[in-house]
Parts: sequence; C-alpha cells; structure tokens
Amino acid sequence: MQIYSRSSVAREEVILRITVLSGLPCYLESAIRNGHLRIAQERGAVEIDIVNLRDFAEDSYRTIDDEPYGGGGGMVLKVEPVWGALETLGAVSEGSEEEGEEKRSVEKPWVVLPTPKGARLTQRDFVRLSAKEHIVFLCSRYKGIDERIREWVDEELSIGDYVIGGGEAAALVMMEGITRLLAGVVGTKESVETDSFTCGLLSAPTYTRPEEFMGKRVPTVLLSGHHEEVRRWRRKQALALTLARRPDLLAELRLDDEDQILLSEVLGE
Ligand code: ADE
Repeated sequence: MQIYSRSSVAREEVILRITVLSGLPCYLESAIRNGHLRIAQERGAVEIDIVNLRDFAEDSYRTIDDEPYGGGGGMVLKVEPVWGALETLGAVSEGSEEEGEEKRSVEKPWVVLPTPKGARLTQRDFVRLSAKEHIVFLCSRYKGIDERIREWVDEELSIGDYVIGGGEAAALVMMEGITRLLAGVVGTKESVETDSFTCGLLSAPTYTRPEEFMGKRVPTVLLSGHHEEVRRWRRKQALALTLARRPDLLAELRLDDEDQILLSEVLGE
C-alpha cells in the first residue's frame, strides 16, 4: 500500500490521504471527480480513494448488513466487512493493544464515523482534521452499525441535528471542508482566512461587476481603492451580520478595541 507522508513529497504542500469506506461507492464517485474535490486532487493536495465495503463481505452475496438482534426495524452494518477493510488499511490489527500500536507506526489512519450521534461538526474540526496524514471515513447507510465497530473508530462526527440517508453525504461535506484548507486548493490564503467561521464571525457581503444593476449600487467604499477603509468596512459588516444572525458566535469571541468601537457604531445605527 502506498503511504503518503509529508516527508515523501518534494513540495511544500501537505499531502492528505482520504479513504472512504462505503457500501454505495457510486454515490461518491462522481462527487470526487468533479468540482472542488477534483481540483484538490489535481493539485496534489489530497488523494482520495473510495473502497467498496462489499469487497470485504464474507459471503458470495457480498452482504454487509443484517437484521438487529432483538428485533426492530432497519438493517445494521456488520462487523466483519468493516474489520476487514480497516485491517487492510492498517487502522486496526489483531493482538494486544500495545502490539497493535507497534505495528501501526506513525501512519495509522484516523478513523471518522459520520453519524447523527457524533459531536456536532464545526470549522475547528476541519482545521484539526486537515493536519492529519490519512483519514478514513466509515460510512453507514443503515439503521446503524454493530456497536462493536465503535471501538475501532477514533472520532464520531455529526453534520447537524437531523438524520439523512447515510454517512456518504456527511463524509462529502467533511471532505470539502477539510480539503479547501489545504495549501494550493483555494485561490488565496486570504480567501480561506476570511471565510465565515474561520475568524469566528460570519463573513462580510461581497460584490462583483457591474457597479450598478437595476438601480442597486455596490457600496462606494469597495470602489474607493482604500485598503484600510475596505478592511474596516468588512469587519464592521461581519460584526453586524453575526450580531443579527448568530449572536451566539459573537458571545464566544474576544473583541479587540476596534471591534468594540465598530460594534457600538452598529448598535447606534
Ligand atoms: N448520517 C445520518 N445523519 C447524519 C448526520 N446528521 N451527520 C452525520 N452522519 C449522518
């Protein structure tokens, strides 16, 4: 198995490896071959592999789910195919914990289970996960997973307080969020740094040509060429928007002197 590590590449960008384990690989295939994820792969920032869990099924029907013990609706993801796939990737190994740790060395992949039972995903998780070398997303499209699988998972993450059809769409959300933080994927560093949430605020409104459309004009300050005024305007807009829509975010933020002034201006308007 080819292992990508930071030291094995001659470029400065971090190469992140992502493996998605899924019983529905076709769902993911077109998504990773298009748009943002395609660009990230072409630029060498990430390598994405999709692995069909059915390849690790133990019967000729390639079964990966079964009915729950004790009855009840839905199907449950089985332990054997998940173990087989994770073992092949070096994420788990047989024997004692210590032996496993020794065999794994530094390359042990970080196994993430997308699930509504997980911790709620934030931009901070993207930042943290973008520093990993190899992430494995384990997707389940079933009622749930056999509880024993949880022992092999490093982290459970939820994309929100709702239930969707399965982990694939959630894994895509996470892949998009993580890969756009990797060097070389998004146009400029500034563009990532000014994202909503990255600096704790919702981002300021943006405009592009034309200057006027059906009587609606672009704010004059953005046409002025005064970088300092533009920066101040954007900061004020970001504070105003966050105050109006997400006061909870604002409450978590340490505001500096300029922010306090801008915020009092917002409140006075
Ligand atoms: N699978 C189903 N619902 C989910 C959610 N909200 N987050 C992550 N994975 C899921």
